[in-house]
Amino acid sequence: MKHIFQKGSTETLILLHGTGGDETDLIPLANMINKEASILSVRGNVLEQGLPRFFKRIAMGVFDMESLKNETVNLHDFIQKASKDYDFDLNKATIVGYSNGANIAISLLFTYNNPVQRAILLRPMIPTREIQSTSLKDTQVIIVSSKKDTIVPIEHGVWLEKTFKSLDAQTTFYTLDTGHGLTQEDVNIIRLSMKK
Ligand code: MLT
Repeated sequence: MKHIFQKGSTETLILLHGTGGDETDLIPLANMINKEASILSVRGNVLEQGLPRFFKRIAMGVFDMESLKNETVNLHDFIQKASKDYDFDLNKATIVGYSNGANIAISLLFTYNNPVQRAILLRPMIPTREIQSTSLKDTQVIIVSSKKDTIVPIEHGVWLEKTFKSLDAQTTFYTLDTGHGLTQEDVNIIRLSMKK
């Protein structure tokens, strides 16, 4: 997969952008979270009218399940290989996924047990209700939704919190008063979550 890797001296952040973004998009956010972190920032394999995404969709909020499944495996294989090539430990890595990037991160967590140490899901949707994972007990999941998000109803965050808790993930659910876009409050929440 197209990506950027920047070697740092502390933890590794795996960045997954939203629809229409690319591997450069979340680098400023990563620098705000931890300037010393290593960064693996990945570009989604799919193009929707020229806009990069991590899996195909049929309409707004209606996902192509076959593409979701295939791309979840591709992302899993890619980060496994990258951790060997760039010599970092996935058990200590944090995924930071925004919107479409958060949605494929959820699919990864629903497919594989504890694929990373921590997943920060910013404005996520429910990508699928099919779950193969049996336990996420070694995974910390932080969900940041917004009550005024015009793209994702807050119920998605509520269901995700319940579901991740049922898989024993250490789950924290934040609800903000802003929209779909990221704000300073997101940065503050992420920084706080990384310390735990
Ligand atoms: C999606 O995966 O389609 C979303 O959560 C919405 C978007 O990325 O625009």
